[in-house]
Amino acid sequence: MAEREYEKETERARRDLRALISSKNCAPIMLRLAWHDAGTYDAKTKCGGPNASIRNQAELNHAANAGLNIAIQLCEEVKAKNPRISYADLYQLAGVVAVEVTGGPTIDFVPGRKDSMASPEEGRLPDAKQGASHLRKVFNRMGLSDQDIVALSGGHTLGRAHRERSGFEGPWTRDPLKFDNSYFVELLKGDSKGLLKLPTDNVLVEDPEFRKYVILYAEDEEAFFRDYAASHKRLSELGFSPP
Ligand code: HEM
Repeated sequence: MAEREYEKETERARRDLRALISSKNCAPIMLRLAWHDAGTYDAKTKCGGPNASIRNQAELNHAANAGLNIAIQLCEEVKAKNPRISYADLYQLAGVVAVEVTGGPTIDFVPGRKDSMASPEEGRLPDAKQGASHLRKVFNRMGLSDQDIVALSGGHTLGRAHRERSGFEGPWTRDPLKFDNSYFVELLKGDSKGLLKLPTDNVLVEDPEFRKYVILYAEDEEAFFRDYAASHKRLSELGFSPP
């Protein structure tokens, strides 16, 4: 298809996603879908990554993906209206729009990802019960750094955990539909009544290298937005060379 046509369809899908995400208040789960599709990337073998393989029932059944069928179904509404957009682009665009419509930074989006049904083995996404070395192992495998880990963890400014999906419960911030730096502010406060901190969230305060960035982002929202936008773009383009 002509590149120009594809770009127009991408823009239509972006508008449809804005409307859908605002009316359904589903920004958090859309962001989580984009992250879980991309976060399987292995830089060494160049497999996994933002290729929509998460649609594959075998991958969707991985424990880490519990609940994401909801986001996939919501995306079908946009796909039906814009059938030419690849699922891989659609899921990443949904993540970008989720951040944008909840008041977060604008993330540069380049279309052109190809779809795949080749799912990686289970266990590539981070386990919330583990520590700093696990987080580094998982994100370094994708080709991402300490700073990416902390900036991207700021995605927990949106949404909440659901006991029936992950075994954890509750939101990280007082306003889980607003993208801001409150995740880092709450992390530094330590125990906040009614708010969730996963073991992997607490690790960001305990590990001295991670902690530097937590302090920076809690004190300076602009720095968080700038670094988040850059890290999110990297995540959304793992293994992807724009056409
Ligand atoms: C939710 C773990 C990184 C975005 C969750 C949940 C867990 C989790 C256990 C709760 C799921 C549920 O019960 O519904 C982790 C771990 C990470 C990580 C261990 C490692 C650093 C990220 C990243 C992003 C992200 C990088 C995005 C940039 C989200 C969002 C939700 C969520 C938006 C809320 C979903 C909803 O409200 O339905 N995460 N996550 N997470 N995660 Fe993460």
